[in-house]
Amino acid sequence: MTYLETVAQFYSEVAQTPEVGLCCIQSTPLQLPGLKIPLPMQEMNYACGTTVHTNELVNQPTVLYVGVGGGLEALQFAYFSRRPGAIIAIEPVEAMREAAARNLEIAAQENPWFDTSFVKICPGDALNLPVTDASVDVLAQNCLFNIFEPADLTRALKEAYRVLKPGGRLQMSDPITTRSIPKHLQQDKRLRALCLSGALTYQEHTQLIINAGFGQIEIRARRPYRLLDKQTYNLEENILLESLDSVSFKVDMPEDGACIFTGKTAIYAGTQTFFDDAAEHILQRGIAVAVCDKTAAKLAALKPTEIMVTGSTWYYDAGWCC
Ligand SMILES: C[S@@+](CC[C@H](N)C(=O)[O-])C[C@H]1O[C@@H](n2cnc3c(N)ncnc32)[C@H](O)[C@@H]1O
Repeated sequence: MTYLETVAQFYSEVAQTPEVGLCCIQSTPLQLPGLKIPLPMQEMNYACGTTVHTNELVNQPTVLYVGVGGGLEALQFAYFSRRPGAIIAIEPVEAMREAAARNLEIAAQENPWFDTSFVKICPGDALNLPVTDASVDVLAQNCLFNIFEPADLTRALKEAYRVLKPGGRLQMSDPITTRSIPKHLQQDKRLRALCLSGALTYQEHTQLIINAGFGQIEIRARRPYRLLDKQTYNLEENILLESLDSVSFKVDMPEDGACIFTGKTAIYAGTQTFFDDAAEHILQRGIAVAVCDKTAAKLAALKPTEIMVTGSTWYYDAGWCC
């Protein structure tokens, strides 16, 4: 079996016999006023973070949700886009499509605002999306892309870029690793299916998103979530996995490279009322301004004694650079 076949078989099994807290820590799913999440859907929460960023889901966006699982995040997105076909859920595993459809039926009984027509579940594959170019506002995937080997991940990211409208957003939540995972674990197909051995480092992960063409990346959350300990996994050192929630924008690539926002700010502390770097960054004296990592480094180098640059908070959702 190829690793993709192993993945499909694995998710077929856990669609038919749900495993609570299967691949990631158990966390409380995002709660929203008037949203009731059916119990079987909660039991099939096979995720480690969230892709549903509530403060920007205005104007009923069309969302392509890849790897539907039990349908939890599809339902959460539907909460914001209450119209037929607003959420297109792609899932290659038949048993998972059936489970998601069952769970969404229950959701319709428990939530007066929800109609199953809001989520269209389609057979399909992240590596070959059955969707036309530039047709969706948001593409979301949670704990799927880390499973892919790098060549397939590159293809999945290119597919995401293709189907997003200009300005569209790729909303991802995936494990990343603080150190490279050794080959013997990377090649373990079942561990890969479990989201335990396919994770890339933060640098590798963000570089592949940039390589696909995304000109801006925002890190929404980064937190430790699981340890691969040396005894269980036959390692020289323990390896910490972190969960990373990010939003990447299909915007033009800046000439000097992608903007990555990790929560850094720049604060002008010189003698003038403001500082203008003549590159569209104006800092009012004493006021913290959100900057991408590239701009943070440039400003710090330009005026090391007058501009204070604060560190990455790994939380940023403030929109554009100053
Ligand atoms: C770890 S689960 C995550 C499910 C869901 N996103 C959630 O947050 O609970 C991965 C999902 O991706 C699906 N999947 C597996 N291979 C896929 C592929 N090549 N393309 C799209 N989805 C795939 C699995 O069947 C499963 O539903």
